[in-house]
Amino acid sequence: MSEQIVITDVGPRDGLQNQPRILSVAQRLELIKAIAAAGIASIEVGSFVSPKAVPAMAGTDAVVASLASGGPVHYTALIPNMKGYELAKAAGARSVTMVLYASDGMAQKNVNMSMAAAEVVTADILAAARADGIEVIAAIAVAFACPFDGATDPGVVRAVADKFLALGADQIAIADTIGAANPRQARALTADLVRDHGAARLGCHFHDTRALGLANVFAAVESGIRRFDASIAGLGGCPFAPGASGNVATEDVAMMLEQMGYDTGVDLDALLRASDLAEELTGTAPGGRSKAWLKPWLAKRAG
Ligand code: COA
Ligand code: ZN
Repeated sequence: MSEQIVITDVGPRDGLQNQPRILSVAQRLELIKAIAAAGIASIEVGSFVSPKAVPAMAGTDAVVASLASGGPVHYTALIPNMKGYELAKAAGARSVTMVLYASDGMAQKNVNMSMAAAEVVTADILAAARADGIEVIAAIAVAFACPFDGATDPGVVRAVADKFLALGADQIAIADTIGAANPRQARALTADLVRDHGAARLGCHFHDTRALGLANVFAAVESGIRRFDASIAGLGGCPFAPGASGNVATEDVAMMLEQMGYDTGVDLDALLRASDLAEELTGTAPGGRSKAWLKPWLAKRAG
């Protein structure tokens, strides 16, 4: 049996939050179901944020409510604050992804809070979620650089990760929100975290702004990380982080990991259908770099 790597497709959240075309709840569900049908283990299906701040994520309650948990796919939804937690819980979410920050600039721009205030709220959410039986993934945004405050000190990221792993976060996701990391930095930070905590509760979230997404995934795999976020068809970009483009494309990550001998559970044919659907629905998804090569290769393999 080959070693497993869990891919969380964040396209329905990180991707769709920033598209000129706003999808209906039915279209969002169609995309989520296509990604699930490709064997992707985990999907971030939307966010409970202010519909004034991010109109494309209005209706996430309906998305979550119609994706009954308990099946083979793990679903999570992003939250920025306690109100988001309450809304996610009311919609029936079994897992939430709360955002922490490695810079004050990003915390202010994204949620009008300081880094420290976001930590206090996250600790409160962890306590509430423990009582409610809801999983909490804590993502640390701008873990390598911030568009407002510049380069991030890896020591700051490690301190936040240490604190929230100790407080019982189910997972910590190291997020390169603007795609600023290089592979040596990705390797160094993840190696330190894996050495201190083991890899089971750690994941990485890379954006592909400078074509370094896959290189950074590889670097983190070499450190022992076995959980990665990726976005179908490379959809995305954060509306509050100038210059950020989409996450590394799910099809590129899945192809690379499968060819390296890891088991992602993904059916590449079905994944390309989901990627085509993302392109069709949004009209703007770039599509993974691997697609042009994968399509004829898969057709030939099918004979
Ligand atoms: N979901 C829905 N509405 C929310 C909310 C949430 N999680 N948190 C706050 N709100 C509402 C409040 O009820 C209030 O509504 P009203 O104007 O109708 O009274 C309004 O948003 C402002 O609330 P306030 O607590 O003053 O928030 P703020 O203005 O200090 O901060 C945020 C605004 C945080 C709600 C908003 O910036 C946001 O949702 N940001 C998310 C950004 C995001 O999604 N980034 C990308 C992913 S990391
Ligand atoms: Zn992101």
